[in-house]
Amino acid sequence: MAVDQDGGVDDAFALALLAADPRAALVAVGSVHGNVEAERAARSAARVLDLAGEHSTPVACGAARPLVQPLRLAHPRDPLGALIGSSSARVPADVDAVGQLLAAARTHSGRLSVLTLGPLTNLAMALQRAPRLPHLVHRVVVMGGAHRISGNATATAESNIWHDPDAAEIVLGAGFANLTLVPLDLTREGTAVRLGLHHLAASGGLRGRVGRSLLAHRSRLPAFAIHDALAAAILLDPHLATYEHRGLRVLLEGEHRGRIVPADPVSRLPVAIARDADLSGLGIRLCRALRGPVAARWRE
Ligand code: BDR
Ligand code: CA
Repeated sequence: MAVDQDGGVDDAFALALLAADPRAALVAVGSVHGNVEAERAARSAARVLDLAGEHSTPVACGAARPLVQPLRLAHPRDPLGALIGSSSARVPADVDAVGQLLAAARTHSGRLSVLTLGPLTNLAMALQRAPRLPHLVHRVVVMGGAHRISGNATATAESNIWHDPDAAEIVLGAGFANLTLVPLDLTREGTAVRLGLHHLAASGGLRGRVGRSLLAHRSRLPAFAIHDALAAAILLDPHLATYEHRGLRVLLEGEHRGRIVPADPVSRLPVAIARDADLSGLGIRLCRALRGPVAARWRE
């Protein structure tokens, strides 16, 4: 599996979940602008993997800015970096996340799953460099889009799409035969409290201490949605969700720029849009996955 992420706390939850699950078989992790700068997101991802004991997965820095529009960071103060530190030394300067993704797709031709947890700039650039990429990739899972609900970046746009709508439109129109969208409609429901992560914070000893620190730095804990971890869980267990299938496109003009809307079914392959996921059990898996890496941080 190749993962592309933008350095948010929920991106870290997703990486911790994947690092703890042997089915994930991580072969490449890339970073992209979005929550924070791509470079910070790469260092944080490497740090999370290090803390999780996953030392061999290569991490590379990807696109520093969107394809067309100016850079807009959601969390320039880098709450994840402040929490875990970002001093990992294993982000090579001479490998870019786009090249790394393409190399992984060629090496694992027909078998690679790609999980995107941030803006789609890297995947769009990979498609520009290698238009045959959809034939090399087994499956793509994208956390992004607000399907039937309002957005979290604008009234109609979800953050990962809004940070680079042009890239998202390239990806949706690229002809991936097995593309799943895990939209805000679903992930907004997966809050820390609903998933039971408050048990982590409420428990005693070291576990409780680190749990409280991890979760409580978000002042609105009940509303703290763990978007990307849900997308990771759905990639690992597709049957957790039910799906609606339809072609989608991204609006690129006007006040609704970044909104996903249905596309002409003749012009687009259908996307599997996840909904109605059974998330019971995910909280427990997340608690287990987080306990190792987070506890390790506190021992230092
Ligand atoms: C998405 O936007 C980012 O801020 C989160 O990490 C997640 O990937 C949610 O809209
Ligand atoms: Ca993210």
